[in-house]
Amino acid sequence: MNARTEIERILKLSPVMPVVVIEDPAVAPDLARALWRGGLRAIEVTLRTPAALQAIEAIARDVPEIAVGAGTVLAVDDLHAAVNAGAAFAISPGTTAALVEAGAHSAIPYLPAVATASELMLGLAHGYHCFKFFPAALAGGPPMLKAFAGPFPQARFCPTGGITPETQRTYLNLPNVLCVGGSWLAPADVVAARDWTRIEALAAAAARA
Ligand code: 3PG
Repeated sequence: MNARTEIERILKLSPVMPVVVIEDPAVAPDLARALWRGGLRAIEVTLRTPAALQAIEAIARDVPEIAVGAGTVLAVDDLHAAVNAGAAFAISPGTTAALVEAGAHSAIPYLPAVATASELMLGLAHGYHCFKFFPAALAGGPPMLKAFAGPFPQARFCPTGGITPETQRTYLNLPNVLCVGGSWLAPADVVAARDWTRIEALAAAAARA
């Protein structure tokens, strides 16, 4: 399976991709296990904290049953760091020429993000067919994804940004949406309190919605 088919497989693992910010790498495996017990099979750890790469390493090592990806990949160096940390995939919040080029040759599948038709055309020209749609709610929400389906029938999306438990189903019902992403599954205060029962319940609700 090549990297471009592999990203589609990963995005189809679960209807919702938790987008998590981890301050303490020691909690990362327990957080991943709670999400797994709730029924979610992939997790995006954002590269927004000094602990993020260690957290990815810990999840890849201790919870290999969940697919752990690196999010907030802003530069090619971030992509390399994600590979070195053992990430199974990498996601950006936008698109740059350098990243779509590097992502096409990366050892792990890479998901660029789009908010406009022009960014989508850049990604398609580099051979991508799966994209994060960010920030989904502000960039047009479900009507924008319906509009993309006309000129870009081959494109598939993981909308993220501003999605809630109340709106996730509207996105998931669209034929060009593989999954949605969101941070509501791992609120910072719940993670800090190590309330894994609560995380599992949030994940379970998302997985069956
Ligand atoms: C992100 O990359 O921060 C995600 O889009 C999360 O967005 P949310 O906090 O609106 O779910």
